[in-house]
Amino acid sequence: MGEVLNIKMDVSGKLDLINKRIEEVLKTDSPDLTEMALYTLRSGGKRLRPLIVLLVYELITDEEISKVLDLAVAYEIMHSASLIHDDIIDEAEERRGSPPLHIKFNIPDAIVTGDFLFSVAYKLGATYGTEVSDIVARAARKLAEGQIMESRNLGNLEITENDYFHIISNKTAYFFGAGARSAACVATQNEEMRENMFKFAYNVGMAFQITDDVLDIIGKEENIGKMPFTDFKHSTLTLPMIYALKHGKNDDVGNLRHVIRGERTDTESIELAKQFLVDCGAVDYSIGIAKNYIDEAIKAMRSAERTPDLETLLQIAYSVISRIRI
Ligand code: IPE
Ligand code: IPE
Ligand code: MG
Ligand code: MG
Repeated sequence: MGEVLNIKMDVSGKLDLINKRIEEVLKTDSPDLTEMALYTLRSGGKRLRPLIVLLVYELITDEEISKVLDLAVAYEIMHSASLIHDDIIDEAEERRGSPPLHIKFNIPDAIVTGDFLFSVAYKLGATYGTEVSDIVARAARKLAEGQIMESRNLGNLEITENDYFHIISNKTAYFFGAGARSAACVATQNEEMRENMFKFAYNVGMAFQITDDVLDIIGKEENIGKMPFTDFKHSTLTLPMIYALKHGKNDDVGNLRHVIRGERTDTESIELAKQFLVDCGAVDYSIGIAKNYIDEAIKAMRSAERTPDLETLLQIAYSVISRIRI
């Protein structure tokens, strides 16, 4: 089992609805395909994106949340599809505390299962009309753009913080924002409200990816449900690395450069690089940036009604940065 969402408010009813509907929509004529799809979807996951969809909807309308259940499920399924493909790209060895699909089965089958999951997500999104299905499709396109930009910059020691923000905005934050905005589109015609919901979730998404990148460096495998140092191994430059390369001292920077470029893969060099990222303030700096994004997210909710749903959404936002303590 991977990491679970750590908030005080009880969302178990919503999680049950989501999980039950996932089982229903993944039935196919191919038992093997269904088995592989369910392997990934059943392996855990915090269900952050579908919860945000349901909560945003409930926050702004009195309609039943069952009306956006398929939309919520579309985002979780598309997210899982992207993780299956991402784990192949990143040569990851663990996901949600288990072997990723391409290791449990094989790479060709995992690629096809990911494609299948994308198709399920579009189908679910399409039932909400053009405006919403455009947002769902755009989320997938942004994700692809972000992934390609990340790939083009592997091992690029000159990458800037702005390049990094641009990448994570596309591959992660927009996706969060799209979920919230599409739920708001179903709930209301009020454009300001729609935009505020987008801003909230987008900023949560930015903070989420930065925190996740920090956890790749300082997190423990048993807590994060994936192998740490995957970004070093795959030469993916993340915010703490970019900061340290710019602000650190000679010897330490030298080792970090070698580790990032895969020229030093021994445990000692990797531990040294990790320690350097902590000691030079790069980790704290990155956590500070993530906190700023959470502040922005909270600001976007300024005009929202003070309801238990808002409280839950705010708790989710804070939980993103408190992950750092796991
Ligand atoms: C992992 O997302 C991918 C990133 C954007 C960092 P999550 O950490 O939300 O994945 P699950 O669904 O909970 O496993
Ligand atoms: C997140 O990227 C994956 C997507 C947004 C598709 P990462 O590669 O940083 O996430 P993890 O660390 O594998 O979960
Ligand atoms: Mg990746
Ligand atoms: Mg990855």
